[in-house]
Amino acid sequence: MTEKIEQLIQEVKDLKAASAQELEALRLKYLSKKGIINDLMADFRNVPVEQKKVVGQKLNELKTLAQERINALKEVFENEKAQAEKPDLTRTEYPIGLGTRHPLSIVRNEIIDIFSRLGFVLADGPEVEDDWHVFSSMNFAEDHPARDMQDTFFVEAHPDIILRTHTSSVQSRVMEVTQPPIRIICPGRVYRNEAISYRAHCFFHQVEALYVDKNVSFSDLKQVLLYFAQEMFGPDTKIRLRPSYFPFTEPSAEMDISCNICGGKGCPFCKGTGWVEILGCGMVDPNVLELNGINSKEYTGFALGMGIERITNLKYQVKDLRMFSENDVRFLEEFESAN
Ligand code: DAH
Repeated sequence: MTEKIEQLIQEVKDLKAASAQELEALRLKYLSKKGIINDLMADFRNVPVEQKKVVGQKLNELKTLAQERINALKEVFENEKAQAEKPDLTRTEYPIGLGTRHPLSIVRNEIIDIFSRLGFVLADGPEVEDDWHVFSSMNFAEDHPARDMQDTFFVEAHPDIILRTHTSSVQSRVMEVTQPPIRIICPGRVYRNEAISYRAHCFFHQVEALYVDKNVSFSDLKQVLLYFAQEMFGPDTKIRLRPSYFPFTEPSAEMDISCNICGGKGCPFCKGTGWVEILGCGMVDPNVLELNGINSKEYTGFALGMGIERITNLKYQVKDLRMFSENDVRFLEEFESAN
């Protein structure tokens, strides 16, 4: 019997299992009630008394070794299993959750696209501006009401430094360093000291266009306006120009388009008129050309400016302007774009 136990001890030391099932089979074979070791225990009573001590010790040794070996193998399998279940933190999550473009960006990009098809190129200027570029160079008289504290945010320590109230300041920024031909489109954020409500905000977005060259005429302006309106709102869109006033254009006009919500029949959005105003425009005042270093005898130009929020409202009927800056994902996810 001692020999058999010795042999089993060697066997148990080298036990191997390739799977949890194999390991369970080993456990049953050696350690279960009907296993080899228990059988040996049962035979122990037949061992002659004088050998009982030695055989007993060997038997205990075998049992302990078998338990240790099987427990060790079990631990290996449990570790492997835990490892397999652990998330791999270095792996990218699939599918990657793509965001959507902001509605104002979608519309801004569309406006830029339309004007670039006509040869307009992007231009940019600072949002924190000086009085010269926002007002004086744009032919605002010293006492013009738009300079009033109510409209303009001033930087307290420097009354000459303001947040631009319109993107027309970029006209001046470009003209002071460029000679015609100039054909630019300038999108950007502007600020006005207004109480925030569903229809007004203290910041919003505009796009400015400026074209200065020899022989630029009002009919060029009209053609660009019609092209823009029909590209933006569809080929059936009609435009009309109403005389208006801006310090930097002469003559000046405001452009209406046939209401694209009711198709011109009249609805609450167009207040029953069938028309909605979308932009201001005009021929660049010769004073503005001269103030910005361009010879007004040689060159003429037109300019136009529009609010991106307004165009977006017309396209998507967003009823509350504040939605644009609240970053509510449920609102933002409603907009999809190709670019
Ligand atoms: N700057 C004007 C505004 O903020 C919009 C505008 C009107 C821009 C006429 C122009 C223009 O370039 O010609 O209300």
